[in-house]
Amino acid sequence: MSILKIARMGHPVLRRPAAPVADPTTADIARLVADMTETMIDAQGAGLAAPQVHVPLRVVIFHAPAHRLEKPSESVPLTVLINPEITPLSDETADDWEGCLSVPGLTGLVPRWERIRYTALTPDGAQIDREAEGFHARVVQHECDHLDGILYPQRMTDMGHLMFREELRHYMSDTESSEDE
Ligand code: NI
Repeated sequence: MSILKIARMGHPVLRRPAAPVADPTTADIARLVADMTETMIDAQGAGLAAPQVHVPLRVVIFHAPAHRLEKPSESVPLTVLINPEITPLSDETADDWEGCLSVPGLTGLVPRWERIRYTALTPDGAQIDREAEGFHARVVQHECDHLDGILYPQRMTDMGHLMFREELRHYMSDTESSEDE
């Protein structure tokens, strides 16, 4: 396994739609997932998409460890999604702070669907079909946006809420902090 270099906002790989994976069970995909996992943990991120490590394929990983959540009951184990598809389950959206390993140091208030259903394949060829809400729904939407060349600032409705995280922490200490995704 190796720690991979993370592309930052402005790199063309983050702006292009990623290609579907033909066969999720190959050794190449297993190696990519192992390297992405090591990279995400090293960077202390909650999620990572393959284009962020310069691989333009529809692969994302994420986790929601209990100790990093306001509501520990919403924790999700490390999950790998290959060729994921998202369907919103209602028109309801919620605003919350997000960060991104490709946009280091910044955080922004981003509206996302509150409840979603998502489907995907796993590296052993199984099908995932889940419903999610809250942080779980948010991180999946954030990661899947990377597969379509979209970074979270493009989803923001008020750029006055794009901030350096240090300043947000310093001046708005009652606001919850965000995770890098
Ligand atoms: Ni991100």
